[in-house]
Amino acid sequence: MTQDELKKAAAHAALDYIIDGSIVGVGTGSTVNHFIDALAGMRDRIRGAVSSSEASSQRLAAHGIEVFDLNGIESLPVYVDGADEIDGGFAMIKGGGGALTREKIVAAVSERFICICDTSKRVDVLGRFPLPIEVIPMACSHVTRELRKLGGEPKLREGFVTDNGNLIVDVHGLRITDPVATETRINQIVGVVTNGLFAERGADVLLLAGAGGVERLQAR
Ligand code: 5RP
Repeated sequence: MTQDELKKAAAHAALDYIIDGSIVGVGTGSTVNHFIDALAGMRDRIRGAVSSSEASSQRLAAHGIEVFDLNGIESLPVYVDGADEIDGGFAMIKGGGGALTREKIVAAVSERFICICDTSKRVDVLGRFPLPIEVIPMACSHVTRELRKLGGEPKLREGFVTDNGNLIVDVHGLRITDPVATETRINQIVGVVTNGLFAERGADVLLLAGAGGVERLQAR
């Protein structure tokens, strides 16, 4: 199976977790694109979706799925999203697509985070994938200097602006053995909007697609 076929298999498995009549939290990325396409097949059974990016909103709308403003919603039963890396405790690095802040907001309002991945994303220690940080433009140099003190090599994502009008700095060369502490530490740097570590609020369920099928793993 190709990596894209594995992503599709994980995405389709997530349909089993969708609650009839609910509003679904929807992430961003190529794995989630498969999920949105699959969700279209059951659009009459859901009220609609809350989306974590302009790209996902457009794809949802193109399928005739109503996209709700998160401000009008108190809680979402389920949030479905991919990851760039996920460890054994279901802490993740996200933001390869630059949507980390909105993803973290929608995840925060959701009761259950369903992570959909292929096995290449599963790691023992987070950090081989560069950690994305969303930064207020005027703070970029300051944040970069502060990040360097933490031991990584920050690089501005050239030519990229987030849906919120900010920049992304990707930090290379980190070995993240305490994801909660690193998430908290980086978020304390003035000018950081948020970072791509999802450790304080990790995934609850991991749907991990590999050659043998989709494993359904529950957080401990
Ligand atoms: C976007 C994300 C994505 O979930 C992550 O980058 C994985 O993407 P893909 O499904 O394309 O591999 O965090 O900001």
